[in-house]
Amino acid sequence: MAGGGALSGNAAMPETLIVGGGLIGLAIGWQLAKAGRSVMVIERDSPAASPSGASWAAAGMLAPLAEVGFNEPVLLALSRASLAMYPEFVAELEADAGQPVGYRTEGTLIVALDNDDAAWLRRQYDFQQSLGLPTRWMDGNEAWEQEPHLAPSVTAAAFAPTDHQVDNRRLMTALREAFARAGGELRTGTEVVRIQHDGDRASGIWVRPSDDAGADPELLEAPQLVVCAGAWTRLLMANNLPAPAVPPIRPVKGQLLSLTMSPLLRLSYVIRTRRVYLVPKLDGRLVIGATSEDVGFDTRLTAGGLFELLRDAWEAVPGVYDLPVRESWAGLRPASRDHAPVLGPTPLAGLYLAVGHYRNGVLLTPATARLMCEFLLTGEVPEAMQPFGLARFHRRARMHA
Ligand code: FAD
Ligand code: GLY
Repeated sequence: MAGGGALSGNAAMPETLIVGGGLIGLAIGWQLAKAGRSVMVIERDSPAASPSGASWAAAGMLAPLAEVGFNEPVLLALSRASLAMYPEFVAELEADAGQPVGYRTEGTLIVALDNDDAAWLRRQYDFQQSLGLPTRWMDGNEAWEQEPHLAPSVTAAAFAPTDHQVDNRRLMTALREAFARAGGELRTGTEVVRIQHDGDRASGIWVRPSDDAGADPELLEAPQLVVCAGAWTRLLMANNLPAPAVPPIRPVKGQLLSLTMSPLLRLSYVIRTRRVYLVPKLDGRLVIGATSEDVGFDTRLTAGGLFELLRDAWEAVPGVYDLPVRESWAGLRPASRDHAPVLGPTPLAGLYLAVGHYRNGVLLTPATARLMCEFLLTGEVPEAMQPFGLARFHRRARMHA
C-alpha cells in the first residue's frame, strides 16, 4: 500500500487531489490513475488503526431490490446500473490488485416472520413486480426448503436472485493496492482541515498529521479537488465555504456485529427480514446489522442496539444462538437530504463532490467511479449523473422560499 507518515513538502503536486480514502475516493482514484492522471488520496485514518469510515463498517450487500424505496426510482436506476457493472468491476479489480474481494452471487431471501411482516413483504414484492424486477414469491415451505436454517415460523419470502454481496473490507484493501499499482499515492494519517478558495475557485487543501492537532497546516494545491469525505463532509466544508457549495450530508449511525459460522450452520444466501439482515461472508463471518440512528457522530455501541440485532437475527435463524461472537462495531452512513448521492461540480471551480451514498455506497461504487471519472476527465457531466447534482437541493430551497 502507498503509505502515510510525514508530509513531504513541495514534491510535484498531482492533477487531482481526493479527500477521503473510503470506497468512493479510492475507486475514483484508481480509475483516474489508470487513465493516466496523477492522483493523490488524502486519508485521515492511519494504517495502524481500524478504519473509521462507512466503507469498512458496511455489510457489503449489493441490494437494489431489497433496499428499494417506493419513492426512489432515479436512485433505483443508478443502483441497478451499478449492480450490472459489478462482475466486470470485480474481475478488473481482482486482476489489478492480485487479490480476491469475496464477491458472492447466491442472492437474497427477504423473509416474513408473521402476518404483519407478510403484508409488508407483499407490498414490497408488488412494487418490485410493477417495476419488472426479478423477484420471486415463495410460501413458507418453499423458503424453508431453500434455506433450512430459517425458522419454521417463516410465513413467506421474496427471493431476489440478483441482490448479491461483496466483502467490503477486502474490496477496500484491494482498491488501495490497485490504486498504488496504478501509480496513485495514498497519504494516510493526514487530516484535511480546510479547503482553500479564492473568490469562486478552490485551489488547494490545508492538511496536517492526524495525530498532531497543534501542527501548522500545509497547503497542497491541485487543479481538481474531489471531496469523498463520507459522513464528515459538512464538518470539513461548512466552516469556510459558501453555503451553496456545501452538500446537506448528515451521519446516520449503524451498529453491527459478526458471529463465526460453524460447519453445521453455514448460510449462503443473504437473509433479510423487516428488521435485520444476516450476511454470510466467505471467510466464515456472519455479519448481522444494522441499527439506523440519527444521533450525530456518536459511534458508541449500546446494549439495546446489539440486543435487538441478536434477537431479530435469532427469530429468523434460530441456530445463531450457539455461534461464537466475533466482533461488534458501528459506522456512520453519509446521508443526503433525499438519500441519493451528490455527484459532480460545486459552484466553486475546481471543487467536486462524490458524497452522500447513504445505505448503498458499496453497491454504488462502480457506477460512481465510472461516472465521476468520465466527468473529471472530460469536464462533461454524463447524462446518468445529471439527477445527482448538488444544484437539486438549491432548486428545492428556492421553490420553497
Ligand atoms: P467512507 O467510507 O465513510 O469514507 C470517507 C473517508 O473520508 C473516511 O475514511 C474518513 O476517514 C475520510 N475523511 C473524512 N474527513 C476527512 C478529512 N477531513 N481529512 C481526511 N480524511 C477524511 N452500502 C451498501 O452498498 N451495502 C451495504 O450493505 C451497506 N451496509 C452498511 C451498513 C452500515 C452500518 C453502514 C454505516 C453503511 C453501510 N453501507 C452499505 C453504506 C456504505 O458503507 C457507504 O455508503 C459507503 O461506504 C460510503 O463510502 P465513502 O467512501 O463515501 O465514505
Ligand atoms: N445497506 C445496509 C445498511 O445501510 O445498513
